[in-house]
Amino acid sequence: MLASKDKTGSAARARVIVTTGSSAGFMLAFLALFEPGERVAIACPGYPPYRHILTALGCEPVLIETTAETRWALSPEALIAAHRAGPLAGVLVASPANPTGTMMPADALARLIGAAEDADLRFISDEIYHGLDYAFPAATVARLSERAVIINSFSKYFCMTGWRLGWIVAPAAAIERLRLVKQMTDLHTDQLAQATLAEFLKRGYFQKHLVRMRKIYAERLNALDEALRKSMPEGVRWNRPEGGMAFWLELPPGFDASELMIHARERGVLFAPGRYFYVQSPLPNTLRLGFANLNEKQIARGVATLAELLRVEMRKRLRGSRRAERAHMALV
Ligand SMILES: Cc1ncc(COP(=O)(O)O)c(C=O)c1O
Repeated sequence: MLASKDKTGSAARARVIVTTGSSAGFMLAFLALFEPGERVAIACPGYPPYRHILTALGCEPVLIETTAETRWALSPEALIAAHRAGPLAGVLVASPANPTGTMMPADALARLIGAAEDADLRFISDEIYHGLDYAFPAATVARLSERAVIINSFSKYFCMTGWRLGWIVAPAAAIERLRLVKQMTDLHTDQLAQATLAEFLKRGYFQKHLVRMRKIYAERLNALDEALRKSMPEGVRWNRPEGGMAFWLELPPGFDASELMIHARERGVLFAPGRYFYVQSPLPNTLRLGFANLNEKQIARGVATLAELLRVEMRKRLRGSRRAERAHMALV
């Protein structure tokens, strides 16, 4: 899978470093590519550990707000505007993205990489959801740039985050530094885990496994989409994800997903409130619903519970606003 680099997108052994999951990959890449104090752009909402690891290493995460209108994608214009506002050293992009599940088509990704590289920014691509793409195949940055650094892992393919195996593909110029940083930090990645996976790959099981997982996830995605359409009250918006493992929802303005979570938890339903994926000015009315680990029945039950809670809350608000209106009338 990782052998022999050519223009087809597979990578030469010499350009690959095995990592202890992609989380360790971010740590290595940030340590090797950036100096303390350097600014690195990431999309917001986004996967929280990017900013936490950058901050822990003394770098400055620069959060670029994205919206539903641009399908939560980072645009070249927004990237360059942030660079003009204060020089950036690099940018990290994930497509499919977490938490929104949206993907950048290859041409949009190529434009973003072009803009980044013209400005001499280091480009990091988190490709952890590649292969778990349902609308169109995710474009690997390996086909679009010789200079970009790609980070991936097996966590999502096996739905086993405890199996800590990942990899980085980097240009020759960066690989030595990455190797050195790995030696100075976690030395090795568990060899038993690597041997198990190597055997799995050698026996040709991986491609079949991926096809199977993609099918299961696609069915669950459809089940969640259908359940949302069927149950959600008017005013709740979501985008059907093109990849990944989650839906991103926007409740009507004024709703707070963290409050909803308190009631949902009592009914045995959990989700991730959207504020977790923001830093400044979070949108409290957003939330992420994961579908990877639930069967269709559980998905339908969870969504029906959420929809019911939302309807109760909406009715309360309506009654409240009528009372306020009446009180207002009396004072006139
Ligand atoms: C976008 C993204 N990147 C990276 C990771 C971390 O994965 P790993 O288990 O490989 O450290 C996650 C985990 O949820 C993720 O959603």
